[in-house]
Amino acid sequence: MRVGIVGCGGMGNVHASKYAQMAGVETVAFDVDPDRSRAFADRHGAQTAATLDDLFARCSAIDVCLPTDLHHGAALAALQAGKPTLVEKPLCPTLDECRSLMAAARASGALLVPAHVVRWFPEHRAAHDRIEAGAIGRPASVRLRRGGKAPTGTGGWFQDFARSGGVLLDLAVHDFDWLNWTLGRPLTVVSRSVRQGSQIAGAEFVGDYALTTVSYEGGCVAHVESTWLDPSGFRTTIDAAGSEGLIELDSRDNPTLRIHTDGGTRTENTYAPTDDPYYRQLQAFVEAVDSGQPPVTAEEGAWAVAVSLAALESARNDGAPTPVEAP
Ligand SMILES: NC(=O)c1ccc[n+]([C@@H]2O[C@H](COP(=O)([O-])OP(=O)(O)OC[C@H]3O[C@@H](n4cnc5c(N)ncnc54)[C@H](O)[C@@H]3O)[C@@H](O)[C@H]2O)c1
Repeated sequence: MRVGIVGCGGMGNVHASKYAQMAGVETVAFDVDPDRSRAFADRHGAQTAATLDDLFARCSAIDVCLPTDLHHGAALAALQAGKPTLVEKPLCPTLDECRSLMAAARASGALLVPAHVVRWFPEHRAAHDRIEAGAIGRPASVRLRRGGKAPTGTGGWFQDFARSGGVLLDLAVHDFDWLNWTLGRPLTVVSRSVRQGSQIAGAEFVGDYALTTVSYEGGCVAHVESTWLDPSGFRTTIDAAGSEGLIELDSRDNPTLRIHTDGGTRTENTYAPTDDPYYRQLQAFVEAVDSGQPPVTAEEGAWAVAVSLAALESARNDGAPTPVEAP
């Protein structure tokens, strides 16, 4: 299978390094910046395409790793060309764009898969499976935290709120998908957020923090804390309480090896390469191209975006309770 990667930045490189470990999968890269395409091709042994149309003509599946505000244009063109398409999260920054991609996928019959990699993190999957199997009884409250340093991205697009949507669209969407997957239908959102400058490491970033509660149809209340104001590095936690127990997860407590020196903190994980969540996610996409069964549906990707958008709306209105619009 030949997979066309659109966007040779941070995630494009991560995805290419995982496809490179799969037997029978080749990659072709396209980036608006030809120097980045060439450097990417050298690094991963990939071919390059001169245009999007050239990429579509040479590939049997497309993987969109562009800044979020550019997902819709590239994914729509790929779906209209009949290509099974994986799109990095969040699927699109508006529900209308999500609906447009879902309609294009229905019209062409091409598979559309949002890349919700958290479902392939072993501990997050295990927590989901245990809750679904009744290990904590009836879930009452789930608290999730996710955050680290503020990302920049090519040309600083993450720091441009109009392009990335800040933590509520870019970061919290991971947790909203995990919650929807685990708890069902989200009803109402209350969110407070702060945006202010931070000058960690001498660079000025727009720091961004949000605290959101989401009420679920079954009565469970979720609390989602999202931050780009944590200079200590990336960390996720879960704390899920129910009628019969509690599940706790802290990504800093797992068997990950951490090495601290003057130069900073380096981590090495003890997973086999095939346990890597990005590898497993992309392997599931490659398998889905054959089976036609998406591992995460486009509708689920749109529901996660719907919760992010309700949270943004609530935060804009001083924490007013805001219903989640069905996509
Ligand atoms: N799942 C995760 O863990 C995770 C982590 C980081 C980012 N992301 C998501 O991945 C996506 C990409 O983020 P990133 O960190 O790789 O960004 P990035 O800025 O590192 O890379 C974007 C690339 O796209 C290229 N590009 C820009 N406009 C283009 C165009 N019109 N046509 C072709 N190429 C173009 C840029 O030159 C750059 O190489 C975003 O949606 C982001 O939210 C997901």
